Amino acid sequence: MALLIRNGEVVTSTERYHADLYIEDETITRIGKDLAVPQGTEVIDATGKLIFPGFIDPHVHIYLPFMGTFAKDTYETASVAALVGGTTSFIEMCCPNRTEDALEGYALWKSKAEGRSACDYAFHMAVTRFDDHTEQQLRTIVADGTTSFKIFLSYKNFFGVDDGEMYQTLKLAAELGVIVTAHCENAELVSRLQQGLIAQGHTGSEWHEPSRPETVEAEGTTRFATFLETTGATGYVVHLSCAPALKAATEARARGVKISVESVLPHFLLDKTQAEQAGIEGLKYIMSPPLRDKRNHAALWSALASGQVDTVGTDHCPFDLDQKLMGKDNFTLIPNGIPGLEDRVNLIYTHGVARGNLSLHRFVDALSTRAAKLFGLYPRKGEIAVGSDADLVLYDPAYRGTISAATHKVNNDYSGFEGYEIEGRPSVVTVRGKVQVRDGAFVGQQGIGRLLRRGVMPATSGEKHAS
Ligand code: URP
Ligand code: ZN
Ligand code: ZN
Repeated sequence: MALLIRNGEVVTSTERYHADLYIEDETITRIGKDLAVPQGTEVIDATGKLIFPGFIDPHVHIYLPFMGTFAKDTYETASVAALVGGTTSFIEMCCPNRTEDALEGYALWKSKAEGRSACDYAFHMAVTRFDDHTEQQLRTIVADGTTSFKIFLSYKNFFGVDDGEMYQTLKLAAELGVIVTAHCENAELVSRLQQGLIAQGHTGSEWHEPSRPETVEAEGTTRFATFLETTGATGYVVHLSCAPALKAATEARARGVKISVESVLPHFLLDKTQAEQAGIEGLKYIMSPPLRDKRNHAALWSALASGQVDTVGTDHCPFDLDQKLMGKDNFTLIPNGIPGLEDRVNLIYTHGVARGNLSLHRFVDALSTRAAKLFGLYPRKGEIAVGSDADLVLYDPAYRGTISAATHKVNNDYSGFEGYEIEGRPSVVTVRGKVQVRDGAFVGQQGIGRLLRRGVMPATSGEKHAS
């Protein structure tokens, strides 16, 4: 059935205007004032609502075997959580570990999603080993429309690649026109610092941050940028958490390195004192890179406002309290990660737009449009235009509420943002014209979400410096 959304205020990354939107066959087919209503059209009145393009979370984990356990969400739970929070597409990290086969992993991750998602999704393919088969396997995966890779410069012997493997991955990516996302920390230093701290009896969650200090993240970011510069590849730093790493990335960008930056929700709002709390309270807040000293917040917010931080993701990764307790006597065993998929849009709107720290256009850009552009989804996603997918968020800026694990849809028994107030929430959310959320509640259909197959960038020129 066709859908007409009337009287709303459309807000994109560049424009703001009052208009009606007409949707047929999953796409926006007309935008204008006082559009006629053909018979059989469903009409939604958006008076008082802001209409945003569906938000895109560029960094989530759903199926994640990690640190001896599995993250708790499934596609059924995560996609509903995403939608009630205004996210209509997400990109999951497909993460087979170093001992696993990349193609088998890719098939497994796809099987976890197929027919189960209520929103659209794509994958970043993790390269966790580069051997004689890897190049051919990655070519196959790229030909299937998964045109972004992920490398970890941390998690030694599990997800982590060494410098040689990073080099090979970036060379291939430059040839194929594929963007490479990277977790930037120095695996060797993290491992040595962890061992040293544990040997001294420093086992509590408050030692997680000192085991992965800002300098170690800045080193990883600098090294990634240097490898991008040398290979001519295009890169994207995931979950950048601190001012020294930001400086490394922005300096690289200023000298022409093709590097973009993502920071994630927790690093804008939470700080290391949360992880320093005793017992389970501290365990809840363990992630990598770790929560930092609060002085980094101003740097991240300012870089987000200026666009030096390109995108805001979540690194959504729900481990429940029992799982967190696996590391109660040894911080290196605490499963890393916290949930955020459901809360990203509302919390960044509240602490960014409503508090005057972020323009509405930059908000849309950072949470939707920029990710669509970087990851080959634009203008199908991340835009409100004739021909774009009708992924729309009718946002109610007058809503007031409080985040709580008691009411969230994520499959987890705690929220890192428990008690945080929100000033605004999605009222209606559509995925390709299908109403999936009404009055803030999921009313839609599971399984309609599609794998988003993407194209590649024009091939880059390859190495800048002869080796
Ligand atoms: O702590 C985190 N971030 N857990 C998920 C794995 C990763 O590094 O993205
Ligand atoms: Zn990571
Ligand atoms: Zn991650």
